[in-house]
Amino acid sequence: MKTLIKNGRIVTAVDDYQADILIDGETIELIGKKLDVPADKIIDATDRLVIPGGIDPHTHMDMPFGGTTSADNFETGTIAAAHGGTTCIIDFAIQGKGTSILAALDTWHGKAGGRAAIDYGFHMIVTDLSPKDHVPEMRQLMDKEGVLSCKLFMAYPGVLLVDDATIFRAMSVAADHGGLICMHAENGVVINEIVARALAEGKTGPKYHALTRPVLAEAEGVHRAICLAEMAGAPVYIVHLSCAEALRKVKEARDLGVPAFAETCPQYLFLDYTYYERENFEGAKYVMTPPLRDKWHQEELWTGLRMNDLQVVSTDHCPFCFADQKQLGKDDFTKIPNGGPGVENRMSLIYNGGVVPGRISVNRFVEITSTAAAKIFGLFPRKGTIAPGSDADIVIFNPNKKMTISAKTHHMNVDYNCYEGMEVTGVTETVLSRGKVVIEDGKYLGNPGDGKYLKRSSVQQALRSTVVSHR
Ligand code: URP
Ligand code: ZN
Ligand code: ZN
Repeated sequence: MKTLIKNGRIVTAVDDYQADILIDGETIELIGKKLDVPADKIIDATDRLVIPGGIDPHTHMDMPFGGTTSADNFETGTIAAAHGGTTCIIDFAIQGKGTSILAALDTWHGKAGGRAAIDYGFHMIVTDLSPKDHVPEMRQLMDKEGVLSCKLFMAYPGVLLVDDATIFRAMSVAADHGGLICMHAENGVVINEIVARALAEGKTGPKYHALTRPVLAEAEGVHRAICLAEMAGAPVYIVHLSCAEALRKVKEARDLGVPAFAETCPQYLFLDYTYYERENFEGAKYVMTPPLRDKWHQEELWTGLRMNDLQVVSTDHCPFCFADQKQLGKDDFTKIPNGGPGVENRMSLIYNGGVVPGRISVNRFVEITSTAAAKIFGLFPRKGTIAPGSDADIVIFNPNKKMTISAKTHHMNVDYNCYEGMEVTGVTETVLSRGKVVIEDGKYLGNPGDGKYLKRSSVQQALRSTVVSHR
């Protein structure tokens, strides 16, 4: 099957030019001006951007958490992702405390296989790393299974938190294998103290989720993670960075040449603390960790993205329905399942908030929504760019079209949208996943299960590429 995309404006992290793209099967065969070649399908991309499919390296599909399970499974979540222009996710498998890492990987293969509509990889959340049983498993994970990144938690004592010795051990193993540790950097032990005080004072509403998780708890975690990584000789990737204080720690390290990477998420760029004060328990919709911060942090994060102190925008898509799941914490904010939806809205939000007002260039938009994640997580140049030989994961994006975000029209399996009523300029129109049109005219045309598992390679490329080198 040959597909020809004609008359589009091809934008990658570094290019911006008018040309046609010939796709042969699953990959890009040829790019050229006014290609006159036979094709089975021709797509006219006049006045459209033709960009690499989005890569969202932080999702939680079908994940047991907070006494319930995230509302999107791999089928509903990846179809929603495709609607929004994301053609690849990296999701988090979880090692149950004291159990096998490789068994957890099998469990997540079982959840995603036959359901995912787009390609996917896994990170592994490591909760136990005994030198005898688990270190060899982590080595196999990185050497043989294509899982080159593990997430560790400094938060959630007794559930997911691991101590500094474990973090250091994991970083040392990652360093041996060209892997990467992703860090949930919040000092959960101190946070638990503050939470206990709040509950003792009868402070149970959603806003106390934010008021018990100070920015310094995050900044301290980020600083500690970077120091531990430096001691272990490993790179580190800070997930869901939410505030200026934490960003400053990343910037200080990068200014010294330390290989520290970080992502932020749309919720921290567009939403703020005041959402927790919404009436009728609506604040629970925004209970996620780290919490939403005061509004002034947003511009600091945009500056971080512009200056490459933040490399990636992921979503941390972890949806729980308001009607039943968020209600678990009606009388106690600590029981509200932590997380929110967003996988479908990321590309439009970042284009609208970044490119339209001139905060970032269109190339930087592609870089932070696709290319940088491909490089950092060992998928480049198969993913994250438009070039001969790369997978034909392509989004035809209308930069002038407007749309109003709403739960009434979104495809995520969740009963609210964090950005309800927000009008965005810049909309995904057509999506190709490895050469196959999966979204056209607002309809999903693919088959759940078409998405393939991606064995990823060493992340060392990120260390050599412009992703880490400074401005
Ligand atoms: O609130 C959040 N972020 N839920 C998902 C789990 C995590 O920490 O990423
Ligand atoms: Zn986290
Ligand atoms: Zn997460």
